[in-house]
Amino acid sequence: MTDITIALSKGRIFDDTAPLLKAAGIEALEDPESSRKLILATNQPNVRLVIVRASDVPTYVQYGAADMGIAGKDVLIEHGGAELYQPLDLNIARCKMMVAVPDGFDYESAVQQGARLRVATKYLQTAREHFADKGVHVDLIKLYGSMELAPLVGLADAIVDLVSTGNTLKANHLRAVEEIMQISSRLIINQAALKLKQPIIQPILDAFTDAVQ
Ligand code: ATP
Ligand code: PRP
Repeated sequence: MTDITIALSKGRIFDDTAPLLKAAGIEALEDPESSRKLILATNQPNVRLVIVRASDVPTYVQYGAADMGIAGKDVLIEHGGAELYQPLDLNIARCKMMVAVPDGFDYESAVQQGARLRVATKYLQTAREHFADKGVHVDLIKLYGSMELAPLVGLADAIVDLVSTGNTLKANHLRAVEEIMQISSRLIINQAALKLKQPIIQPILDAFTDAVQ
């Protein structure tokens, strides 16, 4: 029997994906939050889950180490999406990619005056494109998380980060000044796997499609 490997990240992606997997008749036999295992068996003997960092999901699927996976649009843009089939927006893990600055910083004037801004972000590709489109000169500073701290300690004038409730910005006295794009998570499939394992992958894709609608 052909085996299928699905790459997922812990936390919100796994939580939001579990109901979709269930709709496809797939249930993990262990909870990734409590298990230290990185390969999880499911109730379907030919379907297994691999638990990886959110930003590594596209890489596993690109190289065929996983046949399919679920990744945020933010992560897919940074990865580049090469060789990935992206058939379905799952409408989960919804948030917005935004530019934010400290409450007291006059971003609008700084941009109007053509100031060169220091922008801290994990999303270099997205930020580079956004500011290039606006004709704003920026020095990008790569961070791996907690971007909200950067302007508070003088590392940057602005950040590009994900915003959902706005609570993290508020707690750190920052305000959102521009929305770059809406973000949600997509199903991604390795193109060779789609051809070779279509009899197994297609029903999962169909079940996800029905569940999303
Ligand atoms: P990594 O572990 O690789 O550093 P991460 O910490 O961003 O990635 P998660 O926090 O699990 O990973 O986020 C997974 C995805 O969920 C992100 O790629 C994004 O698409 C989405 N996301 C991130 N933050 C939020 C949020 N506050 N609300 C809703 N969705 C979010
Ligand atoms: C994300 C993002 C923001 C926060 C925004 O971080 O990087 O910090 O969520 O959400 P809010 O608008 O609802 O406050 P996450 O929770 O994923 O933490 P981490 O990336 O630092 O693990």
